[in-house]
Amino acid sequence: MKTLNTPIPPGGTIGIIGGGQLGRMLAMAAARLGMKTCIYNDAPDAPAFQVTDRSFAAPYDDLEKLAAFADACDAVTFEFENLPAHAIAHLADRVPVRPGAHALAITQDRLSEKTFVERLGLKTAPFFDVTSAGQAREAFAKLGGRGIIKTRRFGYDGKGQAKVASADEAVKAFESFKGAPAILEGFVDFEYEASVVAARGADGAFAAYDPPANEHENHILRRSTVPSPLSSAQVTGAKEIAQAIGKALDYVGVFAVELFVGKDGALLVNEIAPRVHNTGHWTIEACACSQFEQHIRAVAGWPLGDPARHADAVMENIIGAEVDAWEALAKTGALHLYGKAESRLGRKMGHITRLKPLTKP
Ligand SMILES: Nc1ncnc2c1ncn2[C@@H]1O[C@H](COP(=O)(O)OP(=O)(O)O)[C@@H](O)[C@H]1O
Ligand SMILES: [Mg+2]
Repeated sequence: MKTLNTPIPPGGTIGIIGGGQLGRMLAMAAARLGMKTCIYNDAPDAPAFQVTDRSFAAPYDDLEKLAAFADACDAVTFEFENLPAHAIAHLADRVPVRPGAHALAITQDRLSEKTFVERLGLKTAPFFDVTSAGQAREAFAKLGGRGIIKTRRFGYDGKGQAKVASADEAVKAFESFKGAPAILEGFVDFEYEASVVAARGADGAFAAYDPPANEHENHILRRSTVPSPLSSAQVTGAKEIAQAIGKALDYVGVFAVELFVGKDGALLVNEIAPRVHNTGHWTIEACACSQFEQHIRAVAGWPLGDPARHADAVMENIIGAEVDAWEALAKTGALHLYGKAESRLGRKMGHITRLKPLTKP
């Protein structure tokens, strides 16, 4: 078993589970620091494979391949957090895993995540455990208004969730999940959405980026804007929420806390992403140390970088066939394309960040 009492020096290898655009941008940031990467993905055509030193293409529960991968790395991290618990434990027996199994287990499951957040004294939408049709009906009655039913695990970009306005709809939606455990949440009539992307170092140091305001279309992030309309007291409050969560999870690395900003100004925690996050992509251009570099620094045990923002920024995702306009887009901002062979409906193909001079430090 390798241990990490000292930072991984330049030339060391960071293992990344998941080879999508997040893994790709992590590998590029690692390269800037003189580090090597080894990427593990369950399909051979991963965007991150184009920019890494080594790669493994094998199922996420192939224990033999995971062991070989662990042996090739000085530390392992994730861009894809839904590895089965036994696979994470298997990795952790061989190599330091950051963030750790405990943080992943809590954030993989919406019920344990929301329970954890509530125990910290933070606000969330009201939520109820739903593991049967009968429970779906009862939960809706307790909620007493419209809600959203979500599978507890594996949801992303609005997949595995449905809005419900009656007990019958709640039952029908639960049944469409084919037995997967779910939660029913109260529908939050928020003013807008925001997020805090933050990092915790192996030594407990904490650094948070400025929280952007986030707009979704068809359940997919369309745009993140900094500065957001949050007041400076709300910005401080949002960063404190992230700090409390990071500490309680004994977290190492970058994570994101998605927030609903209520009409009364209250900040409700929606979900925690135990990884770099789409709403932090603007940090590549607008901060001295991007979320990707920050994550590599934390995982490698390096000092955290400065999260200060030196520009205002708007980041927009390039989704599906929008990528065909790459030439026109390239004239208007900092263009990032993920090297995906095919543009499918709803697939994130790239993003573009446009900077303006700093207005609100
Ligand atoms: N309780 C809620 N009330 C109102 N809108 C919600 C609620 N939960 C989710 N949403 C909307 O759906 C989006 C996706 O939900 P989320 O729980 O973040 O799942 P995902 O894992 O797909 O990102 C949120 O960003 C928000 O716009
Ligand atoms: Mg979300």
